[in-house]
Amino acid sequence: LMRKKIVAGNWKMNKVLDEAVALTSELVNMAKDEVRNDAKIILCPPAIYLTTIQKYIENEPNFALAAQNCSDKVSGAFTGEISAQMLQSIGVQYVLIGHSERRQYFNETNALLAEKVNTALANGVSPIFCCGESLEQRQNDDYIGFVKNQLTESLFHLSEEQLKSVVIAYEPIWAIGTGLTASAEQAQDMHAALRAHIASKYGADVADEISILYGGSVTAASAPELFAAPDIDGGLVGGASLKSREFTNIIKAR
Ligand code: G3H
Repeated sequence: LMRKKIVAGNWKMNKVLDEAVALTSELVNMAKDEVRNDAKIILCPPAIYLTTIQKYIENEPNFALAAQNCSDKVSGAFTGEISAQMLQSIGVQYVLIGHSERRQYFNETNALLAEKVNTALANGVSPIFCCGESLEQRQNDDYIGFVKNQLTESLFHLSEEQLKSVVIAYEPIWAIGTGLTASAEQAQDMHAALRAHIASKYGADVADEISILYGGSVTAASAPELFAAPDIDGGLVGGASLKSREFTNIIKAR
């Protein structure tokens, strides 16, 4: 059983159109020869650029697109929102759900995220479900239990078949944008605990199929050791995904 290796670049709210296009074409040129058939590169640009960037990657079998968010609602009077069905209709295969910035700044709860997961899956869009603890939780609490509970409350209502379409991204909040990467050992410990948690509900065979990505200050320097850990199946990269050379070097580390 071979898990998919994935390197995803979350651009967050960065880049104007020309910059987004330039980054994409540089990445396609640099990265496509580096990628084996078992690896996938997922670009997560701001939603407004998805259609444009789709044209640059549509002939690249190893590249795919993710939106950074979607609505929990199916359709209707929700001004400013983007539905999973809309993403599906333009060929977007993945969507980030529950990034810590959405949880923190937009008050997204585990229950709301369960709804987003449902609408994504109902429309054939694979959730990249983000989880992770704060620094305070890591220092004081049962931080592994906290992250396990994020999975329980947002994912464990899914059927086995549905869960197999989900990618998980563990992103300790204290490591996001701080330059403070979790050590490979810290990340591996959490990834193994999350995989065991999935196995406890769905069985080891299912748990073995789920890709669990690490995110939080991943760089070309830190990626090789992180990605070599047995339960780390790639990365969700923020800042370092905005630079084509750096991101390509992370892809090579996978
Ligand atoms: O989605 C990406 C993560 O938030 C990591 O961001 O690589 O800038 O720390 P970062």
